[in-house]
Amino acid sequence: MKRIAVLTSGGDAPGMNAAVRAVVRKGLYEGMEVYGINYGYAGLVAGDIRKLTRRDVGDKISRGGTFLYSARYPEFASEEGQLKGIEQLEKFGIEGLVVIGGDGSYRGGLALTKHGFPTIGLPGTIDNDIPGTDFCIGFDTAINTVLDSVDKIRDTATSHVRTFIVEVMGRNAGDIALWTGVAGGAEQIIIPEKEFNMAEVADTIQKGRERGKKHSIIILAEGVMSGNDFAKELAEFGDHHARVTVLGHVQRGGSPTARDRVLASIFGAKAVDLLKEGKGGLGLGMIGNKIAENNFEEILNNQKHLPDLSLYKLNQEISY
Ligand code: F6P
Repeated sequence: MKRIAVLTSGGDAPGMNAAVRAVVRKGLYEGMEVYGINYGYAGLVAGDIRKLTRRDVGDKISRGGTFLYSARYPEFASEEGQLKGIEQLEKFGIEGLVVIGGDGSYRGGLALTKHGFPTIGLPGTIDNDIPGTDFCIGFDTAINTVLDSVDKIRDTATSHVRTFIVEVMGRNAGDIALWTGVAGGAEQIIIPEKEFNMAEVADTIQKGRERGKKHSIIILAEGVMSGNDFAKELAEFGDHHARVTVLGHVQRGGSPTARDRVLASIFGAKAVDLLKEGKGGLGLGMIGNKIAENNFEEILNNQKHLPDLSLYKLNQEISY
């Protein structure tokens, strides 16, 4: 394979630039030409494609976001869109593609592979919800961003002896809430993967107060409900007057952590190796310290992402 392309799609994640850089530099190292596709699958269909040089990816490893831009493009679910995309790739003589993103990006990758176009997926989402990998690119940066805020909220919560509900992202997954809950010493973590009882939440806050606790921090995953709805329901169980902080898109930005940059670099280089071998239809993962090559079909249709629920139990044992 002599000419490959790379795109980022779906919600951006810190470390996507590092992954693109790795694809470009490793591709050039292997004697290939590497093309960048702007705006994900939307740009692919529109033919927004350009050749990337070594210098195009200079100074990008430390930058958040994605310099290739990203887009959500549900239209790529149609066969018409997919065939148009392949037509554009062929027009540029491109023979293989690397997509960096979440499950929507993988669906696009699976469709292209089924049409005979070799595509490799790299898991890039702060939600950490792609099956077949312990960690996705962007997750580590996002949890450190959340943690910084939780530490600050703790200061003011203690000063005013208040309860805070911190709503974090994650779509339907509780990973961000779990990891930041444990790291931030939150009294309670509420995630979609574990049922909760509002009376018990209120009771835990009350017991903490009686023991002289000066604050109560609840990390709430957005997949459960909104922070404001949670506060309203909690108020029905006592005089809690919880303050709500919705961290929102700040969680998607910022310079990637060392872990995210390294993960992105490993995945990017491996994707080029696989394309060079003529392989496609695979999503990369890191299980333990080993790179995993998972079939797109397996990831999307047969595997289910589950966060590390041992962290939930751990938090109940050490932060109440
Ligand atoms: O998938 C990443 C994510 O940030 C989710 O955590 C969140 O639910 C969603 O994207 C927000 O999407 P948008 O940026 O399109 O509003």
